[in-house]
Amino acid sequence: MDAEEIRTRIGAGRAFITNFSRPVDEDYKTDQELKKPQPPLAKAAMGNQAIDLPHDFSALEIDNDFLRVINSRKSHRVYTDEPITLTQLSCLLWCTQGVKSVRGKSYATLRTVPGGGARHPFECYMAVRRVEGLEPGLYHYLPMTHQIERLGGMDDLEGMIVRSLSGQRWGEKASVVFYYSCVFYRAEWRYGVFAHPTVLIDSGHVTENLYLAATAIGLGGCAVAAVDTPAADHAFGLDGVEESIFYAMPVGTVAPENQEAEDAFYAFVKEQGL
Ligand SMILES: Cc1cc2nc3c(=O)[nH]c(=O)nc-3n(C[C@H](O)[C@H](O)[C@H](O)COP(=O)(O)O)c2cc1C
Repeated sequence: MDAEEIRTRIGAGRAFITNFSRPVDEDYKTDQELKKPQPPLAKAAMGNQAIDLPHDFSALEIDNDFLRVINSRKSHRVYTDEPITLTQLSCLLWCTQGVKSVRGKSYATLRTVPGGGARHPFECYMAVRRVEGLEPGLYHYLPMTHQIERLGGMDDLEGMIVRSLSGQRWGEKASVVFYYSCVFYRAEWRYGVFAHPTVLIDSGHVTENLYLAATAIGLGGCAVAAVDTPAADHAFGLDGVEESIFYAMPVGTVAPENQEAEDAFYAFVKEQGL
């Protein structure tokens, strides 16, 4: 890439972030304005084996001190071998993508996270390694019914996790890796050329709730933007055009004695006197 191309790309990146203030043709109309049919609010089940998730979280040890949860949230990249429970997994899914109600007949889902125009264009997939009661393998969340479906096993689940996280080996020890895809047209139908920054903004709400929910129930995780999209799409059978994975978060059980190993990730800060 030469200097000119780098400048052009940086300029395009800046314009992307300020997309809403970019002028478009006065005649431009989004598909919603053109009264085109609305896409489904969530992806249909990909198979026919849905698993009900527990929805009673009263058995969980939840830290209900809001400020303590906020203040203790941090990224965890070191996990113990303890599995997480199905109720913990259910709670994390509920807190990140759970559908509380539907606006109108089927105009929008209202979820535990906010979302531009209530489009909620994400699907959540999981690589499950250690969750009590679940066979290891690949899963998909069905938000409309608060269920998950098993998509299949994997001969080398850890290898797939590391590849999909662009070689970040620490992720292979997580109990579960959450993968977020975007079903692009769900946002584009309403926002057209303005859709894409809102998708990225909204994905931050999802993973922040995942951070906070994990913290509140004694688990830990770390957001990962360095996703190898083709590898992740391939694993979950996504076409990479209409739907593509762009964000992930390994989550697992954590222990205070692992703090030194956690700190080792940032040893370079001291070494380089930064
Ligand atoms: C959008 C986003 C992308 C991130 N991508 C990575 C990543 O690919 N690898 C990683 O180790 N950490 C990643 N992180 C974690 C950040 O490094 C971490 O949040 C930051 O160092 C601040 O630390 P804290 O979360 O403990 O406050 C990401 C965080 C966010 C929000």
